[in-house]
Amino acid sequence: MALKGRKVVVIGDGAVGSAYAFAMVQQQLAEELVIVDVFKDKTEGDALDLEDATAFTAPKNIYSGDYADAKDAELVVITAGAPQKPGETRLQLVDKNLKIMKSIIEPLMASGFNGIIVVAANPVDIMTYAAQKFSGLPKTRVFGSGTSLDTSRLRVALGKQFNVDPRSVNAYILGEHGDSEFANYDEAEIGGRPLKAFAKDANLSDDDLEQILYQTAHKAYEIINRKGATYYGIATSLARISRAILRDERVVLPIGAYLEGEYGLDDIYIGTPAIIDAQGVAKVIEIPLSPAENERMQASAKTLKAITQDAFA
Ligand code: NAI
Ligand code: LAC
Repeated sequence: MALKGRKVVVIGDGAVGSAYAFAMVQQQLAEELVIVDVFKDKTEGDALDLEDATAFTAPKNIYSGDYADAKDAELVVITAGAPQKPGETRLQLVDKNLKIMKSIIEPLMASGFNGIIVVAANPVDIMTYAAQKFSGLPKTRVFGSGTSLDTSRLRVALGKQFNVDPRSVNAYILGEHGDSEFANYDEAEIGGRPLKAFAKDANLSDDDLEQILYQTAHKAYEIINRKGATYYGIATSLARISRAILRDERVVLPIGAYLEGEYGLDDIYIGTPAIIDAQGVAKVIEIPLSPAENERMQASAKTLKAITQDAFA
């Protein structure tokens, strides 16, 4: 059944890619969903399994495919890459995942693909930089999940703390999707009221807020140590980003965007809010930062730049 509508290709059908495909079917976000991986048994099995769900959601064209199928796709989501082992940092994945990224982008671009690439593979800020460099696509049409998942983790933690829906917590994790990430506590608010005022009401000190940041930045390790990988949070984050693109929403989301002078930074992908629409990153939002937060942004960028320059020397 050839359905009209949005075509999405997910490259990498492991824990994250499979959960993302499931989220896309559940939320009915693409009419055609192509699953690509080096393991065809998995992609064929997932496609057959997922199509069964469409009898409960809505007709979709879901199939195991290859890079040639990306030619007329609006969106390619790349989750292919080795995950962290317990105790391993994301940055330690650079060498092996750069090789995988190169092996993906070359056949992808050879297919004639000219849409948007969203990257999740870690270290996501470096892998996004690589995807853009290897593909040559405009920097606004290649971006990463960045600190999307981290921001959701922070909002969940603060929502619990202040007994409010996490969707009402207007706080962001910024910087590296990794150990140097930080929160914009000095500007964050709930319903327009400063988050710090809520913290004061709850007798939460700045140190307590820092502890919440630490737990947020290290939540992945807690999950990986217990279940081996994280995937539901990132899959839902990727589905949210996909919805913004496929429905041309022009919504503000925390993602990993390419900077050209914002925060005084250039030639780097890093976590920041941005307006997302059918063209990709419509506008990077240089969110106001206190001097202390700006220092953390610069430090986070320095970490990423060092790895990027080394990887692309
Ligand atoms: P996984 O090992 O379960 O899945 C990776 C998949 O990629 C495997 O199915 C593998 O066959 C496939 N693959 C490897 N090389 C390939 C190639 N050249 N072409 C096509 N497919 C290829 O790993 P998992 O847990 O799904 O994680 C995937 C990546 O996502 C990791 O780098 C992980 O660190 C990252 N991740 C990123 C998050 C974020 O917030 N940005 C959150 C969670 C995971
Ligand atoms: C996470 C890691 C896996 O934040 O990137 O879940």
